[in-house]
Amino acid sequence: MSISHSPTFVDLHPAADRFLDDVLSGLASNPKSLSPKYFYDARGSVLFEAICELPEYYPTRTELALMRGHVAAMAASLGPDCLLIEFGSGAGIKTEVLLQAMRPAAYVAVDISSDALHAAADRHAARFPGVAMIAVCADYMQSLEIPGLSPYATSRRVIYFPGSTIGNLTPEEARSFLRDARLLAGPGGAMLVGVDLKKDPAVLHAAYNDSQGVTAAFNLNLLTRINRELGADFDPAQFCHVAFYDAAAGRIEMHLESRCAQTVSVAGCRFVFAAGERLHTENSCKYSIDEFRQLAQSAGFRAREVWSDPQQYFAVHLLEI
Ligand code: AVJ
Repeated sequence: MSISHSPTFVDLHPAADRFLDDVLSGLASNPKSLSPKYFYDARGSVLFEAICELPEYYPTRTELALMRGHVAAMAASLGPDCLLIEFGSGAGIKTEVLLQAMRPAAYVAVDISSDALHAAADRHAARFPGVAMIAVCADYMQSLEIPGLSPYATSRRVIYFPGSTIGNLTPEEARSFLRDARLLAGPGGAMLVGVDLKKDPAVLHAAYNDSQGVTAAFNLNLLTRINRELGADFDPAQFCHVAFYDAAAGRIEMHLESRCAQTVSVAGCRFVFAAGERLHTENSCKYSIDEFRQLAQSAGFRAREVWSDPQQYFAVHLLEI
């Protein structure tokens, strides 16, 4: 008979009150901007999963192939019975590959999307009955504090941060996030990070301007979410999806561009858009292997190993403390 654990759910109520404040201040600033963490309501999470399947969007399938191809080496470096903590766990397909090979004592999934979190945690719990599961719904970009870890005080901590989610942060923000992650992992800990590589701008451009318009729908869904949750009157048809690669900054930027001069009201506050004015919704920073190693080192990590695909599209870095 095997010991079976049901996942423990902890809801730290991310964004509930901050969402309104962030939208009001983002729309009041110049240039207007919003955090990409707000893409992931239930529909946004479904649209993101659809993006991951697109022929143009190479990151997910490239990273999954890297995990499948090298997970034995990763698991050998990380060792068994650790406390595995994942930020931005999402649908958890890559996680399954890692859990299978690593067999940690416990797995903590942290995600801002409660729907995605519950679905993945229930699936993992059924598939890995010997692994204790804790699912934490939280905004980890805000704080890396996680409750309920004291039973695993002696386990080696491994932080998993896949999907190039780190690219949503500017290099300065990423350095500070990595510093916090290093403190959370503690002495003897490690971090496995998936990072999208710099490459031919045409490949990058296509990945964020897919021919089926799924990325556009994902971007525009932010306005629909604001309408529904914050009582706003955005007309998504009056905005268009814009995504381009800024080579100097090494990042894809996504924006919503106003098709006309218009005024939008959010929770009783009015915001004026000029025709062609943009609302900046996402940065997706790209790093060469050396650039990311240097960033990690400047945050106090040692760059232990890196795995990348033959096309050099994506890298998975193993960092140690
Ligand atoms: C989940 C942040 C890594 O930047 O590629 C996909 C999100 N945005 N298409 C990315 C996204 C548009 C994605 N990350």
